[in-house]
Amino acid sequence: MRNYILDLITSKEEKQATIQGWIYRHRVSGNMAFAIIRDSTGILQCTIKKDKVDSKSWKNAEEIYIESSVIVSGKLVKDERAPGGYELQVSDFQTINNGEPFPISKDLSDEFLLDVRHLWIRSQKMTNIFRLRHHTVNYLREFFNSKGFYELPPPIITGSACEGGSTLFEFDYFGEKAYLSQSGQLYAEAYIFSLEKVYVLAPSFRAEKSRTIRHLAEYWHLEPEMAFYDWKQNMDLQEEMIVEVVQNLIKNHSSLLESVGQDPEVLKKASAPFERMDYEKAVERINELGGKMEYGEDFGADEEALLTKGYEKPLFVHHFPKDIKAFYMPEDPNKPGTVLCNDLLAPNGHGEIIGGSERIWKYDELMQRIEENKLNPKDYQWYIDLRKYGSVPHSGFGLGIERLVKWVLNLNHIRDAIPFPRTINRCYP
Ligand code: 4AD
Repeated sequence: MRNYILDLITSKEEKQATIQGWIYRHRVSGNMAFAIIRDSTGILQCTIKKDKVDSKSWKNAEEIYIESSVIVSGKLVKDERAPGGYELQVSDFQTINNGEPFPISKDLSDEFLLDVRHLWIRSQKMTNIFRLRHHTVNYLREFFNSKGFYELPPPIITGSACEGGSTLFEFDYFGEKAYLSQSGQLYAEAYIFSLEKVYVLAPSFRAEKSRTIRHLAEYWHLEPEMAFYDWKQNMDLQEEMIVEVVQNLIKNHSSLLESVGQDPEVLKKASAPFERMDYEKAVERINELGGKMEYGEDFGADEEALLTKGYEKPLFVHHFPKDIKAFYMPEDPNKPGTVLCNDLLAPNGHGEIIGGSERIWKYDELMQRIEENKLNPKDYQWYIDLRKYGSVPHSGFGLGIERLVKWVLNLNHIRDAIPFPRTINRCYP
């Protein structure tokens, strides 16, 4: 019977064991071979003595390559010097697949590691990142499920733009033009009229022309949508969600966080309340801090970095000018020219992780904005329809999963927050 490494180490029992896994480190010295074997739960040091195994096992242990797959049996014994405090004294060493020498060794370029991404994702750092990504997504789901939200899928193939035409991936759909979805929001809006509180979690696609450390062409997008929520309740929910995810990560995974380069003490500072600043004030602040921007321009990475400089927790910016935001955001009657929206900026230069807003829920207002934005009402007929039958005020937001992971794990580049990144110059492997 197979034993998992973590079970062996935590049971603290000296006993016969069989593990299955991959060679993580390997060294031969005279009549002794040392292999560190990893499985999904941990690593275990194994020693193979030539005179304690049959000739086949010795040959296997001597000739094995890094990353080859093996089944190894022996006696688990305490050894303070071994990682985890235990060592397997091997009696049988079988190779499942030895293959070829592993192409990844030390000091390789980023580009090479991206070329062999299918192999590089096995590294300890990548593995730990993806463990934490898994937990992050889990905590998000738990948060919404515990609040009575329903998860539904949005379509990925769509006939209209949600976030403007400049980043659309277009393709031929049986002779018609269609697009890869930029956002599931418009569909999430359709779900609230029965389920009230919903979220969609799906890939979104952006034909981003620029190469940056925070843009992907394909990213995972969590988009909650809530009937009868205004823009302030929307921000409250975002804040509660972020705090809960961060606190859970710190409470349950602090050594994993450390292993990928995040200091849990730094992350702990992301506690409620987050400061809320309107766009106008944010522009002033950016200019005071040495940036150069005019009212009416959107923030780039530099402006966001200036704005959050010295911040230890995320910052909300609300009331952006109507002209730089999407067609579905309602104008604030108390502050004409601005819309009831917010971005949430992560600290330390990680930048925008959430974009959200109230949605226009009145038919005439939506028609006017569709016209102002020079969109074709035909493409949005079904969406407009939602304003004819029992329309209600509602709000929602979009969280980029990789943006969140980049911040909470303190990664240098967004591409490391997803196993197979799609960027302007890469869709391989
Ligand atoms: O601000 P965005 O464009 O908003 C929307 O798509 C809305 N429809 C969301 C909604 O209200 N349901 O995108 C939302 C978030 C951003 O804050 C960012 O975290 C992420 O999506 N995002 C990207 N992440 C990685 N690569 C890109 N190219 C991204 N573009 C947006």
